[in-house]
Amino acid sequence: MSKDRLIIFDTTLRDGEQSPGASMDRDEKVRIAKALERMRVDVIEAGFAVASQGDFESVKAIADTVKGSTICSLARAKAADIDRAGEALKNAASGRIHTFIATSPIHMQHKLRMTPDQVIEAAVAAVKHARNQIGDVEFSCEDAGRSEIDFLCRIIEQVIDAGARTINIPDTVGYAIPQQFGETIRTLLERIPNAHKAVFSVHCHNDLGLAVANSLAAVMNGARQVECTINGLGERAGNASLEEIVMAVRTRPDLFDVDTGINATEIVPTSRMVSTITGFPVQPNKAIVGANAFAHESGIHQDGVLKHRETYEIMRAEDVGWHTNRMVLGKHSGRAAFRARLEELGISLHTSEELDEVFRRFKELADKKHDVFDEDIHALISDTLKAAEAERYKLLRLETASRTGETPTATLSLNVDGSEQQATASGAGPVDATFKAIEQIAHSGAGLQLYSVNAITSGTDSQGEVTVRLEKGGRIVNGHGADVDIIMASAKAYLDALNHIATGAERAHPQAADV
Ligand code: KIV
Ligand code: ZN
Repeated sequence: MSKDRLIIFDTTLRDGEQSPGASMDRDEKVRIAKALERMRVDVIEAGFAVASQGDFESVKAIADTVKGSTICSLARAKAADIDRAGEALKNAASGRIHTFIATSPIHMQHKLRMTPDQVIEAAVAAVKHARNQIGDVEFSCEDAGRSEIDFLCRIIEQVIDAGARTINIPDTVGYAIPQQFGETIRTLLERIPNAHKAVFSVHCHNDLGLAVANSLAAVMNGARQVECTINGLGERAGNASLEEIVMAVRTRPDLFDVDTGINATEIVPTSRMVSTITGFPVQPNKAIVGANAFAHESGIHQDGVLKHRETYEIMRAEDVGWHTNRMVLGKHSGRAAFRARLEELGISLHTSEELDEVFRRFKELADKKHDVFDEDIHALISDTLKAAEAERYKLLRLETASRTGETPTATLSLNVDGSEQQATASGAGPVDATFKAIEQIAHSGAGLQLYSVNAITSGTDSQGEVTVRLEKGGRIVNGHGADVDIIMASAKAYLDALNHIATGAERAHPQAADV
């Protein structure tokens, strides 16, 4: 008997991007969307089109170019949001508008300041308005995890009558517990008379570490769409992780009467791409995609795996993309091989000058490190495209000195708005000295919230990828830099963060307190 399809709805580019500092630019989002398409994700939530001009253009670029998945834009229950989403999705081969409003007593009373009847009225109007734009409309009851079941039944019945084809039940604040959340889904499916006209979906946050468990409990009770993100990226503690949901369903066919259409061998390459682009490293013991997920440390385990691999392995590393896609480039690789690899990675550069510059930087890197992996290429592309932008601060030169028993110093010159400025500073270490020298010039007034270094690949010749998170006036930005020299990577990351502060446009947050 054939199993039901479990629709995989990826929201890395929307909810994932709501992680503080995880913002991505348009080209980075298109690259990730193409990777999701290769993975055969059913629905890609490409963004919140009304948030800013940049968000609109990202959703539009993805709708224009990614044709193998349904492309979705989020919209609050407001005509202006829905119109903007519809406009961004105009050229989509298959488009979806995802509209939502909060349904919990605490959100309706304190955030929306609306009565339950007003919320139903706004939800029905939003779904009807969206249906006038597009055939595929999803409706979410924000904070459903803390909403009253009778109210959920009332509003959902009416939005299905208004034309919603997917009903999403988010556990917005990560409050649910698996058994109870599963029962909520079953009750909704049993009690809502027109429930059979819609697909029921879940969207779980991970505040109690239960996002995947809650999503799977919902699937066991009839949910047929799961909203999730690569590496579990997302607001606060994140969303349910796509790789864990997909592999749980695949590994336990005895318990799940559903199948996904996901090409699991794309999981690890996509996880690495998202990590490199966002600068959010994956913890080594993370299920499926962590560096240790298939590594056996203890002698007893190694012995068992060598004798019969299923003694300790429930999945095969190669089935989720470990060791695949590892085509390595080196200093003898020519322009054609390089270009072909870019195409395979879904990277399209806009001009031949961009290709020239990326190829020049690739050769420079290949001179310094023997093997150039896909992760190196992603970092290289982000770095090159950033350098081409009209940025306020650019690094021209950096020299650091650190000797045992002496205070480290950094001397650097920056191009600031077109003019060269120099500074020298000392610090606890060369990175500290470098940041102090930059601040002597920039006087940004920003506070450093996070500094992290991560090796992009293995080996001591790996590029170090640095993330710097700065906060200014309540706004948080991340900067990224990659280089085989980690002090250089740190300087690039700090300047990238300063450039984000200098140029960042205001964006609306979808869950902010206005309807
Ligand atoms: O967590 C949430 O409730 C959301 C909705 C906008 C779907 O992200
Ligand atoms: Zn969410």
